[in-house]
Order: sequence, then structure tokens, then C-alpha cells
Amino acid sequence: MNLCGQPQNRGVNNFVGTLAFNRFEYCPSTTLNKAGYLDNSLRISPLNGYVNLNVNLTSGSKADRLEELRKKTSACTICPHLAKSRTQVVFGVGNPEAKLMFVGEAPGADEDEQGEPFVGRAGQLLTKMIAAMELTRAQVYIANVLKCRPDMPPNTSGNRKPTRDEMEACLPYLRAQVAVIGPQVIVALGATAVEGLFGPQKTPISRLRGTWLELDGVPVRPTFHPSYLLRNQNLTEKRKVWEDLLAAMERLNLPISEKQRGFFLKA
Ligand code: URA
Repeated sequence: MNLCGQPQNRGVNNFVGTLAFNRFEYCPSTTLNKAGYLDNSLRISPLNGYVNLNVNLTSGSKADRLEELRKKTSACTICPHLAKSRTQVVFGVGNPEAKLMFVGEAPGADEDEQGEPFVGRAGQLLTKMIAAMELTRAQVYIANVLKCRPDMPPNTSGNRKPTRDEMEACLPYLRAQVAVIGPQVIVALGATAVEGLFGPQKTPISRLRGTWLELDGVPVRPTFHPSYLLRNQNLTEKRKVWEDLLAAMERLNLPISEKQRGFFLKA
């Protein structure tokens, strides 16, 4: 039995469409227990043991509940190395009532400094992508799988990919954000975000994008990370990301103009 009282699912592959992915050992749907607490205790790596957020997610406005969760997340020391190295926890930003949520991989140096996800170069591109959807950052919600910047050796710049342990340790926070906000669509930005949400993938992000996955009942659209588009300015790659965003807009019943439909088809 897992912590949700369901049969243990270790290492089992679930299938979404034709795509196999490993839903590691957590409750397949988000449930609230009798006391109104999100029952997302997660059996995670030996590093972390069990995480139980113990945050009441049923009473108060979504903004209040997110704030409660933010406080809890900000005090997290499950990954002692990250608790030591971070400037601050980067919880998430945007509308607590958002219908659309973007999930990236982890804060970089800029995000660690400013306490807000996607504020560096990749973030500026994400903001433009959101604007192309005729939305603003304030209308959507933006978060990362990992809430702390992955630590780097002293006197080095750049970023490293979060480890599996780190991502598994942090996932309950993201799932709790999703449970409170209740978005209708999640866009997962890049292979690492997909890995953080669903476990390691055999299918590359180039084949996962263009499809729908599902997290706790919420449709998830994987797409390339904005930093990939910064490295690869090819129009066809921009178009692929744009088509994923159009698919998200369609799912949300957002208006789409003819002009928007034609973005990135020709230079
Ligand atoms: N900044 C973020 O907040 N997340 C990413 O994945 C990349 C940059």
C-alpha cells in the first residue's frame, strides 16, 4: 500500500496515449484527507524519507492557501545542501486563480537573487511568449519543479540540472500549488520539467512535445524550454513551441486570431 492507501506502484509504467512514463511512487490523484489536508505524502529517496506538507489547503481563498504553502516551502530544509546555498526559496508567481500554469525546471542565479521564477534571459523570452498569447504574467501562474537554485561549486557560474533526489523531494510543493490553483492546463517547459513531473523519460522532449500528458487530472503540454529557443533561433523550432501554446489556448477556449495562428510560419 502507498500512503494514499492504494496498492504500491513502484516502478510501474503508466501509459498516456502511446507514451510510456514512470509515475513514481505517489498518489495518482490529489486527494484531501478528512482533516482537509492535501494527502500527498510522497515516498521519496533515502535522502528525504517522507514529505508531508501538513498544510491545510481547503480553507481560505486560493491566495491565502498559496501564501500558507509559500511560508511552508520557504522554510524547507529537506535538501540541506540547497537550504544552505540558496539566497531564498523561489516559490512561484502569478494569479492564484490562473487557468494556465507554466512549470520550468529550477531557479537560476537571477531567480535566486530576485525570488521570482523566470526573470533571467529565458524568463524574458517566456514573458514574450505569454504576451504573444495575449496574456500577461499576472494572469497566469509560473513555478518550477525545484524551488531552490541547484548549488554550484564555489567560484563557478552557470547552472546545473537538478538531481532526481532534489526533484522528487520538491515535487510535493508543486503538486500542492497545482491542487490549490486548479489550473485547466499546465505547460511543462523542457525535458527536465517533464522529468521532474513524471520521472525519467525514454521519449525525448522533441517527441513528447505536441502531445498531452496528465498530472493529477490536469492536462500537461510538454514543450521546449525557452533557453533552448535562445540557443536555437530556427523558425521551425519557434513554431513548434508556438503550436504547443496554441494547443493550450484552444484547450482553454481562449480567442485565437488569424494573425496568431500564423505566427512563426515565415520570417
Ligand atoms: N528560470 C527559471 O525560473 N526556471 C527555469 O527553468 C529556467 C530559468
